[in-house]
Amino acid sequence: MRYDPWNILRRLTDSYIRAYCVFEADLSQPRPALPPNPDLVVRLFRGDEQLQSATEALIPAGLTAEDVSARMHKGDLVAVGFVNGTPAAYTWTRFGSTLAKEIELVIRPRNHEAIQYDSLVLKPFRRHRLQFAVAAPVLDYLQQAGCTGTLSWVNLLNRPSYKNQCKWGKKRIMTVISLRLPGMKHRWNTALGARMASLFTKPGLGRLVESDTGQVLRGVAEGPARRTGNLQRPRSKPVPNSAGMQLADFIAPKPCRACWPF
Ligand SMILES: CC(C)(COP(=O)(O)OP(=O)(O)OC[C@H]1O[C@@H](n2cnc3c(N)ncnc32)[C@H](O)[C@@H]1OP(=O)(O)O)[C@@H](O)C(=O)NCCC(=O)NCCS
Repeated sequence: MRYDPWNILRRLTDSYIRAYCVFEADLSQPRPALPPNPDLVVRLFRGDEQLQSATEALIPAGLTAEDVSARMHKGDLVAVGFVNGTPAAYTWTRFGSTLAKEIELVIRPRNHEAIQYDSLVLKPFRRHRLQFAVAAPVLDYLQQAGCTGTLSWVNLLNRPSYKNQCKWGKKRIMTVISLRLPGMKHRWNTALGARMASLFTKPGLGRLVESDTGQVLRGVAEGPARRTGNLQRPRSKPVPNSAGMQLADFIAPKPCRACWPF
């Protein structure tokens, strides 16, 4: 195992202070081409009819059937990468507000945006560029379904994931510094680069919403985030992706008007 000073620093500081960068992907921009990986098959799952197949693929990857079911009932999309038939990586997308557990805030997508969350490459398969290989078909799917961008949040000290966001040309639009000192019940968060309220709300304000596991949380879940401050972006028209992705099993895009804040 390689010595990773970023990871050590993260482990030492994580209980007290965290810095999460929020990245915006503009789907109208060309994405980097991927080296071909003939061993990899990526499948996208969405909707009740694919719940069973998604659960079968994700349980070996460490998720519970309850988690998978709760997420898919919310209309989430999951991409699973299989290497020689074995589940090796996954990544989730939500079409609405999402609890960012790490900073105890609810992130709200703006119009025509989706949220990319919970990506994992299983340990034996890491360092083979699978994070991007599994996410690329998702971006294609979203683009074809009329989405213009995505939001994701990444720990500043998670260098592999951070590097990948930058390599894919995503734009860092906010950094959230999150503090919890001994004795503090809730995290204290502050935003750099943009106003916190342009993307996040605190759980505890407004309507009741459900967490992934069905647990009821208080939070504002409805409606796109307000377009304020430096996060305003003209709505770009989706253009075809030029990356020329090889996808063995691509399920046709199914825009979900009920879930998307269009
Ligand atoms: C983050 C994660 C998804 C990256 O997946 P991956 O497909 O193995 O990453 P890649 O092979 O694309 O590597 C990306 C870069 O990080 C580097 N890297 C990967 N693992 C590394 C490690 N343990 N230590 C240091 N650098 C590492 C790679 O060398 C590469 O850098 P380069 O472009 O300069 O060569 C994977 O490590 C993971 O699942 N981690 C745990 C869960 C997690 O952090 N999820 C992301 C939440 S946002």
